[in-house]
Amino acid sequence: MAHPLLHIANDKNLMESLAEEYGTPLYVYSAQRISENIQRFNNALQLSFNKYHLCYAVKANNNPNLVSYMKSQLPLLGGDCSSPGELCVVKQAGMSGEECIYSGNYESAEDLQSALSSNAWINLDDITSFDRLKRIGLPKRLSFRINPGFGKGTFSQVVTGGKDAKFGVPKEKIVEAYRTAAAEGIARFGLHCMTGSGVLEKAYFENMFNALLAAAREIEAAIQCSLEFISVGGGFGIPYKNEEPSLNIEKVMENLSTIFYQQYPDRAQAPSFWCEPGKFLVGDAGILLTKVTGLKEGYRNFIGLDAGMETLMRPGLYGAYHRIYKVGDVDAEHSQVVDITGRICENTDRLAVDRPFPKVGEGDLVGIMDVGAYGYAMAHQFNTRPRPAEVLLHENHSELIRKRETIEDIFQNCNV
Ligand SMILES: Cc1ncc(COP(=O)(O)O)c(C=O)c1O
Repeated sequence: MAHPLLHIANDKNLMESLAEEYGTPLYVYSAQRISENIQRFNNALQLSFNKYHLCYAVKANNNPNLVSYMKSQLPLLGGDCSSPGELCVVKQAGMSGEECIYSGNYESAEDLQSALSSNAWINLDDITSFDRLKRIGLPKRLSFRINPGFGKGTFSQVVTGGKDAKFGVPKEKIVEAYRTAAAEGIARFGLHCMTGSGVLEKAYFENMFNALLAAAREIEAAIQCSLEFISVGGGFGIPYKNEEPSLNIEKVMENLSTIFYQQYPDRAQAPSFWCEPGKFLVGDAGILLTKVTGLKEGYRNFIGLDAGMETLMRPGLYGAYHRIYKVGDVDAEHSQVVDITGRICENTDRLAVDRPFPKVGEGDLVGIMDVGAYGYAMAHQFNTRPRPAEVLLHENHSELIRKRETIEDIFQNCNV
């Protein structure tokens, strides 16, 4: 399917005016698309579950202005945080602690103290995390992240469940984790699972949920409690290629609810269904607007851009594919095969490899699609390249939501 923001990449006047006003490289987000994604996900939940809670995984895109906008589109939206910094973001965005979940791993005492003070629901990655938390103070309510012994993700690096994953309490130890917490007087519990990112297969969520519900029932029987929520985490994928299917989220939720209410036939007494998507809400809503800086015909042919692996890590890190278009001419004939690269002194600095692409010249604008999640959030300053600016595109105007970094910004902490 054609990209939902193709019309924006094809709008030469708009893109040129953004490049002129804010410079390049520039992260451009569509407010309308973010809103559509949130409403769609929330409607899917509403149609299928009596009680549910939707938290946005802030790690996908931590811009506080963007998260505030998301909250304005769905006032009940909570946040999923994995660090004290992300707790600051949700607070700035107007989310209360009670609306949020904190899922850390190998948490330091400071991390746990921040989570405890925030009043977020603390979701622990291990029994040893509980021992550390106990030394600081115990919350009234708690959950553990289970590792069900399997996982799935677009790349091996984003599989977060299974025998090689660093996350979660192994399923064989999960009951012991809850027993330990119950023995310390905790009486309110939830259960959490997140086994990987970028999953486009409906059936996988059902398999994972079956394993999760089996564990839930075991825990409830062992410690005589009713879980307040069961969370399937995030991991809902988006297509990065035209030929990839998109995830039918309405159907995913419908199927999960069937399984859920078979286990918990009394709908009013059933736990609340929670999830914490990141990518699904913001991934396809971002375009990285970048300018051609150099062209080289060598052993391979290259298009060099003012954005590179420091601006967008996913291709260099995972070999991830992103659709790339010549701005204002998205249907231009692909007359060459090129590698698209940035200006970084690393040979892995490739945004695309062996990519059929139209002819472009120095100064032309190019749009890299699907960068709303894990785009800016993973950007860095290697080679002392300041990070780009971010703009939120509304119907009739653009809003600068993060200024471009300067070289002085990079060194501000060196003035000691
Ligand atoms: C605990 C947890 N929740 C939610 C997410 C969000 O995942 P995604 O952006 O794939 O939906 C992640 C991603 O790593 C995660 O680790």
